[in-house]
Amino acid sequence: MEQAVQLPVNGLPAYGLEDYVADLRAIKAETDDPPRVIERVRPLAQLMAEHKASWLKPEHYHCDEQQGVGLTLLHEEPGHTLAVFVVAWLPGRGVPPHNHGSWAVVAGIDGPETNTFWKRVDDGSRTGHAKLVKAGEKVFHEGEVLSMLPGAIHSITNRTQQITVSLHTYGMHLNFAERSQFDLERDEEKPFILDIQ
Ligand SMILES: [Fe+2]
Repeated sequence: MEQAVQLPVNGLPAYGLEDYVADLRAIKAETDDPPRVIERVRPLAQLMAEHKASWLKPEHYHCDEQQGVGLTLLHEEPGHTLAVFVVAWLPGRGVPPHNHGSWAVVAGIDGPETNTFWKRVDDGSRTGHAKLVKAGEKVFHEGEVLSMLPGAIHSITNRTQQITVSLHTYGMHLNFAERSQFDLERDEEKPFILDIQ
């Protein structure tokens, strides 16, 4: 049987969520090694950014006023693995320093998002205590991809006047990855659970 012809988008072969998920599954079947997974996922997340017209919807811009963020789960596998979210930030809002308990790949979709990277300098011996120092900052624009290994700590701020959107892919759904958020003023580490509709 002949394959259906896929029409090009902006002169590029079509690439959508189903293609992305199929490719993520193929990568997961091949390796669980975070650096290798990230290397393979990065160009695919960039492809998703280039083809956002095929999957991005107006409702993905809806944000929770209290949390300052909107999260839409596009896909996860049984066991909450290979979780793909669209994340939207209200102007001036963001998220405190946190890790992901998993590898993470973030592609800029709409508007620049400021990422600050943090380094943990305590020895981790005191439960609930964590001392972080700033390690760098970078603004990620549309089509740019940020990837992080499981221990990486970052924070995000939307410094624009509009809602910004990015596509986030994780080895494990955020609320099942036993991840942490960090309080810089109190030098505290605590569980990070988001209210995801
Ligand atoms: Fe994050």
